Amino acid sequence: MTTMPDAPDRADEFTMLTVVRHPLIQHKLTLLRDRTTPTKIFKELVDEIAMLMAYEATSDLTLEPVEVETPLESTTGQRVSGKKLTLVPILRAGLGMVEGILRLIPSARVGHIGLYRNHDTLEPVDYYFKVPGDAAERDFLLLDPMLATGGSAASAVASLKRAGATRIRFLCIVAAPEGVRRLTDAHQDVQIYTASLDRGLNASSYIVPGLGDAGDRLFGTR
Ligand code: PRP
Ligand code: URA
Repeated sequence: MTTMPDAPDRADEFTMLTVVRHPLIQHKLTLLRDRTTPTKIFKELVDEIAMLMAYEATSDLTLEPVEVETPLESTTGQRVSGKKLTLVPILRAGLGMVEGILRLIPSARVGHIGLYRNHDTLEPVDYYFKVPGDAAERDFLLLDPMLATGGSAASAVASLKRAGATRIRFLCIVAAPEGVRRLTDAHQDVQIYTASLDRGLNASSYIVPGLGDAGDRLFGTR
């Protein structure tokens, strides 16, 4: 059966959701959805999409003036102000988004949150947490390609907030309306960026049409 992948009309329901509709992202996302795309290409596509999404998600970072000597004279340039941005992948699949974003923001710090969905209850199970100590002073990009029921993302945001974080953006590649609702209900201050708001969840809480199990497709573990 052929279906339209996304629910563009539903995106307007969510004020904290940005669907990044850049043509290059949409082209790469279609390759990512393709069940015949092999692991190596899948990994490259996640990396490239993450970099392009990060470009959009950082478009409102604060700048400060800085003096710079060109070969000809001094001038005033601008640099991103404040402490280094921190990327926080949710293990495992979020790891696939880190390298692409680091190419764009090489000075970013990288924390990690270990979570997996219990297959029976679908609730997230925590197993690892490490972020820089001065979390209150940093901007965080929380990374996971999939926002399905939203349980994992909501739990990861709660962990970051317990560590002191106040400025958190969530970057995913495919989101279900159910996940966006759960995350925004739990954390109204978190801006969500996705390449697609898909139709919904199936009976096993997989996103449809989605792209399958992102972790398995990234790491070849199916
Ligand atoms: C996937 C995905 C998200 C989560 C989304 O991870 O990478 O973390 O599911 O689902 P949710 O929105 O319903 O919580 P998974 O639990 O399969 O872990 P893994 O990739 O480490 O195996
Ligand atoms: N996790 C995935 O990897 N894919 C889904 O569709 C839902 C959760």
